[in-house]
Amino acid sequence: MMADTLTIALSKGRIYKETLPFLAEVGIVPVDDPETSRKLILDTNRDDVKLVVIRAADVPTYVQYGAADLGVAGKDVLMEHGGEGVYEPLDLRIARCKLMVAGFEDHVVPQGRLRVATKFVNLTRGFYAKKGEQVEIIKLYGSMELAPIVGLADVIVDLVDTGNTLKANGLKPLEHIADISSRMIVNKASMKMKHGAVNQLIEELRGAVERLS
Ligand code: ATP
Ligand code: PRP
Repeated sequence: MMADTLTIALSKGRIYKETLPFLAEVGIVPVDDPETSRKLILDTNRDDVKLVVIRAADVPTYVQYGAADLGVAGKDVLMEHGGEGVYEPLDLRIARCKLMVAGFEDHVVPQGRLRVATKFVNLTRGFYAKKGEQVEIIKLYGSMELAPIVGLADVIVDLVDTGNTLKANGLKPLEHIADISSRMIVNKASMKMKHGAVNQLIEELRGAVERLS
């Protein structure tokens, strides 16, 4: 019987760089470098493994619909997506940071609704709903730290690692929402239909994570 082909979705930059050593440890080496190649589908040394390189926030969508069998995505992105149609069997413990509410330490709490700028609209709505707070959410696509400075929002919900970006903009972390790391996700149908190949890869990667981290 021919081996099942597996497609793994990754995003360029941090996740690609930090996933590569685990893939190498289990014998998967890309033939092209996404940082220099314009190709979106990368061949690997294994005929039965392909990589697709897409935007970080699109990884759960590709895996949900089975356009990729597996993927690597930040927990932030998975919380925002909702996790429909995917399993999350393995924490790769890479791209670690924290999801935080941040703002000016002495920001004035408004009479009306608190205005929160973020690219994580769904998870922010859920976070405040759980606290019983109705807030106004302002969707941004990046550079959230600017929003409180120019009066666009009272606070932001964003990722914090060293805290340097907040500090450089005079902001402080105010509330911790979640610890973040990147996870291996799997399409639910692939987990059934390609069980042998998918399971073997996940267990090999689990070993690689234990050995390398
Ligand atoms: P894209 O460039 O496709 O829009 P992005 O800018 O969100 O996506 P990255 O900055 O590479 O892509 O982030 C990918 C993941 O890495 C995030 O979803 C998050 O889980 C994690 N991450 C983001 N910023 C940091 C950071 N400063 N330190 C550690 N991990 C981070
Ligand atoms: C992320 C995030 C913050 C910053 C936090 O941005 O959206 O802006 O990193 O990291 P820090 O606490 O270490 O400053 P992004 O991935 O766009 O920027 P990067 O190039 O700094 O990773």
